[in-house]
Amino acid sequence: MSDRLRPLISARRIKKRVAELAGQITADHDGAPLTLVIVLKGATVFAADLMRQIGIPFVIDFVRASSYGKAAQSSGTVLLSDEQRLDIAGHRVIVVEDIVDTGLTISALVAALTQLAPASLEICTLLHKHIAGAKPIMIRYKGFDIPDAFVVGYGMDYAEHYRNLPGVYQLIPPEGGN
Ligand code: IMP
Ligand code: MG
Repeated sequence: MSDRLRPLISARRIKKRVAELAGQITADHDGAPLTLVIVLKGATVFAADLMRQIGIPFVIDFVRASSYGKAAQSSGTVLLSDEQRLDIAGHRVIVVEDIVDTGLTISALVAALTQLAPASLEICTLLHKHIAGAKPIMIRYKGFDIPDAFVVGYGMDYAEHYRNLPGVYQLIPPEGGN
């Protein structure tokens, strides 16, 4: 791959922010049964770090959502799988996502999970991309706001590459490439 990577958020900044988010979740949810619903695959690295800093009991589960396929542009259609078997009725639920971009994916997830009658449903995302005209999403726990650029690293991919980078990078495709 001849893509160029421009550093955007260092591993050190991420670590500090993830600890702060985990502290907030710990303080807000003491005493209620809590489930983290982790969105595959991109949020796994963030969730692994986050959950080890949460100081109250919780359970985890996973849901798969995809809209990008192999492209750097959202296809506009969100495919969910596995959400039906989640056992979250009466639970306080936090959906853990890597990035909210157009908001399509998280909106589809929130709609599907609401059908399963959780006691509450909140969003925790590492990144929130700011794009003109996107519909506003209520995000309770947010790591960083980022500009409208395609990013990789810390779990996030481009065509399945770069998930292992410890920080977040902006992907700059080669000249003349897509
Ligand atoms: P949305 O539906 O447009 O909000 O897109 C959200 C989903 O698309 C996230 O769960 C990510 O998996 C993926 N995504 C959006 N923007 C990026 C990006 O810049 N890099 C990698 N994945 C992204
Ligand atoms: Mg995703």
